[in-house]
Amino acid sequence: MHFHIMTLFPEMVLEGLCTSIIGRAAEKGCISIEAVNIRDYTLDKHKKVDDYTYGGGAGMLMQAQPVYDCWKALDEKINLRRSIEQKSSKNFSRTKVIYVTPQGEVFHQKKAMELSQEEDLIFLCGHYEGIDERVLEEIVTDYISIGDYVLTGGELPAMVIIDTVSRLVPGVLNNRESTETESHTNGLLEYPQYSRPEIWHEKKVPEVLLSGHHANIEKWRLEKSLERTKERRPDLFATYLKMNSP
Ligand code: ADE
Repeated sequence: MHFHIMTLFPEMVLEGLCTSIIGRAAEKGCISIEAVNIRDYTLDKHKKVDDYTYGGGAGMLMQAQPVYDCWKALDEKINLRRSIEQKSSKNFSRTKVIYVTPQGEVFHQKKAMELSQEEDLIFLCGHYEGIDERVLEEIVTDYISIGDYVLTGGELPAMVIIDTVSRLVPGVLNNRESTETESHTNGLLEYPQYSRPEIWHEKKVPEVLLSGHHANIEKWRLEKSLERTKERRPDLFATYLKMNSP
């Protein structure tokens, strides 16, 4: 899977993503991460990429031209690579372009699973007060927010989404880091977990986990998942009950 990030701060996303598990996955070749500087595509002689908003209002807006030219170069490069890989230039599905914005659909695990099926994903990171609407209309396929709050730019949201999607790409996690039992995979929060020592600060690991009785352990874990979800995320619990009632 190939991630392409259109940004004014390529070093920020590359430094953030090229460490730990995601960095290792990129080294192994399970994923690739490329950051392209939108500023490199401006036709302005002072390398400016922003301007005042028509109609007035606070702040500056990223202009259409550098964003469009950056996307066009990237999209053509992706299509060329695909045509070499597939030895034909016919019938490529259009590469999704995700604009990370507080005005998007709120990101969740199901969307991550859907995105993990793509071969390439382009992320567009805005800054200042946003981006000229006309270029968004022409290139963006998905508007995604990472939550109902406002950050200073799209780089952190893009990194959050890339991290979440990468974990679902085959080969990125090893078996011990499996995604099967974790929170949100089955609509519930994960059960509590314990490691050595058996007693710490006078707290003992629940007896059932030491019993070796797998069926009882599974039953206990499901009970704890349900309990925890009901207490911490009543919204998820209500959906789970609705989906799992006869
Ligand atoms: N850009 C600024 N805030 C954001 C958010 N909450 N989600 C996605 N992109 C953003």
